[in-house]
Amino acid sequence: MSILVTGGAGFIGSHTCLELLNSNHQIIVLDNFSNSNMESLNRVKNLTSKEFKVYDVNLLDRESVDHVFRENHIEAVVHFAGLKAVGESVEKPNYYYQNNITGTLVLTEMMDKYNVRNLVFSSSATVYGVPEDVPIAEDFPLSATNPYGRTKLMIEEILKDLYVSSNDWSIAFLRYFNPIGAHESGLIGEDPKGIPNNLMPYITQVATGKLPELNVFGNDYSTPDGTGVRDYIHVVDLAKGHIKALEKVLSESGVEAYNLGTGQGYSVLELVAAFEKASGQKIPYKIAPRRPGDIAECYADPSKAERELGWKAEKSLEEMCLDSWRWQEGNPEGYLIKEVEIK
Ligand code: UD1
Repeated sequence: MSILVTGGAGFIGSHTCLELLNSNHQIIVLDNFSNSNMESLNRVKNLTSKEFKVYDVNLLDRESVDHVFRENHIEAVVHFAGLKAVGESVEKPNYYYQNNITGTLVLTEMMDKYNVRNLVFSSSATVYGVPEDVPIAEDFPLSATNPYGRTKLMIEEILKDLYVSSNDWSIAFLRYFNPIGAHESGLIGEDPKGIPNNLMPYITQVATGKLPELNVFGNDYSTPDGTGVRDYIHVVDLAKGHIKALEKVLSESGVEAYNLGTGQGYSVLELVAAFEKASGQKIPYKIAPRRPGDIAECYADPSKAERELGWKAEKSLEEMCLDSWRWQEGNPEGYLIKEVEIK
């Protein structure tokens, strides 16, 4: 029996594949490589000395998805595949709804057809919209502020309906806070295309000299130093949360949401200072206007995941910074194979 990982070549997906293999699960990866690289999976194979099948398939291609289910003995699905850039989703809502929603519908249709009813879904803290208070617990009101966030929220609703239709389903929504860091080997990590939207990859690219300076989006928020506060979580801790959630969905039916965060918030300037200390690199920055749609503070109450999944984030901010830097320094162009390596 295998675990199907959709979007397994991406940042969180590749780290989760590695943890799944390390905990002796067999995996199959499905990815269309629209925002990821096969090289991440080659490195997962090298790091674990384990083999697995990889399908270059788009979830919108019903025939091919059917083929993957027909050809394999799938026990559960960990579903990462989806588009995730907030700004792009505002520009191209149709593209986001088509990819994320229809893609998930094709997936769950095939799961139903082949009697695979165990699912771990990659959701986001974005489903809390503009939270009324922090720390954020799972029973806080849900809303969306952009099409990307709405796809996550809609998919959660669709999956709840599946459970209502048949209590055989066993589904966990994992609501991620801000994943950063990389595997400690420095061989897999985050590889954004173009100029990064997110803070940590932007900082690491300033550190390598690829970008001149960081723009700090606003220093007039009602936070201790005026800059935005987020719950940064090490991607390896996050990946381990998926293993715990998978064990839970394999052992009992139901539909539950879990926050995956540390419970601790850090400001933009605190993250910059921690990164400078860990890497020894200076990060020049300037204060820029607020980014539209940003909120002042967002951090998790992660106690439900600890109580019900037996999972807790363990890695420190220093480790997150050190590992992000090790990855970026060793792979300044991400997964692009350098010419020397090809020769
Ligand atoms: C963003 C998305 C969120 C998504 C998540 C996925 C937005 C508004 N939100 O979260 O929906 O689920 O990524 O990873 O895009 N910052 C700077 N300068 C930068 C970049 C960021 O000052 O160049 C600040 C932001 O204002 C924020 C913090 O750094 O206070 C974190 O930003 P980011 O890494 O983009 O994450 P979120 O906005 O929390």
